[in-house]
Amino acid sequence: MISPADGHTPLTALVVQGITMDFVGLRALENVNLTLRQGEILGLIGPNGSGKTTMINVITGLLRPTAGRIQADGADITGKPPHKIAQTGVARTFQKVKLFRELTVFENVKVAAVSVGMPNRRAKEQAWVALEELGIEAWSGRIAGTLPYGHERKVEVARALAMNPKFILLDEPAAGMDEEESAALLQILTPIPEKKNLGMLIVDHDMNLIMRLCNRLHVLNYGKTIGEGTPEEVRRIPEVVEAYLGS
Ligand SMILES: Nc1ncnc2c1ncn2[C@@H]1O[C@H](COP(=O)(O)OP(=O)(O)O)[C@@H](O)[C@H]1O
Ligand SMILES: [Mg+2]
Repeated sequence: MISPADGHTPLTALVVQGITMDFVGLRALENVNLTLRQGEILGLIGPNGSGKTTMINVITGLLRPTAGRIQADGADITGKPPHKIAQTGVARTFQKVKLFRELTVFENVKVAAVSVGMPNRRAKEQAWVALEELGIEAWSGRIAGTLPYGHERKVEVARALAMNPKFILLDEPAAGMDEEESAALLQILTPIPEKKNLGMLIVDHDMNLIMRLCNRLHVLNYGKTIGEGTPEEVRRIPEVVEAYLGS
């Protein structure tokens, strides 16, 4: 059981405990424990196929875990449907962009806020705030389907932010961007957790960026945790070094 009063796990955290996820013939996650605190940036890293996206899918209700529990701010969200989990304040982006291609950028972002139950007026306000946060207000009237790829990814992040989440899970938000674009995006993201008191979990391939950006790292390999801690700590774990040298 999860005990929020154990002195280590504040209530204002997303707590993943003992998660195992089996697919047919494959164990994608094995007994993973992970805590994302409000106000911090946690990097979820690991080689391709190590279970990062699966973890985000389990947390956000797209997959029902084989074993384990997930709590958001003390509320058990294990096995709940995705829209309910979003309403409890857990937002995400997808590794592959999922925008409404025929709607404008503004409508895309507003719809996300509406989807978690915000009334129209509040949803509009939140949409503007999110667009400003990412510096993309100028694109608000553009049809999403006509945007260049890097722009689409920022709209995805704005959609998640517009839900006013306590926890935001970003699955390779800079995928497909060049080095400069991705550095710029991560620069924009950096101050958000502290400013909005939200926990940000971020998956990204660029190890240098992740090391600079994150307060803490959680490293997966073949679905198992092989290291956690500050970037400095994780850098010194032999298993982590090996996993990266081997890939
Ligand atoms: N829906 C699924 N059905 C079967 N196997 C899956 C499914 N989703 C992911 N996997 C497998 O689980 C493992 C972890 O995948 P994934 O979480 O996407 O890794 P990562 O995001 O770290 O690259 C991989 O071996 C992948 O092929
Ligand atoms: Mg992935």
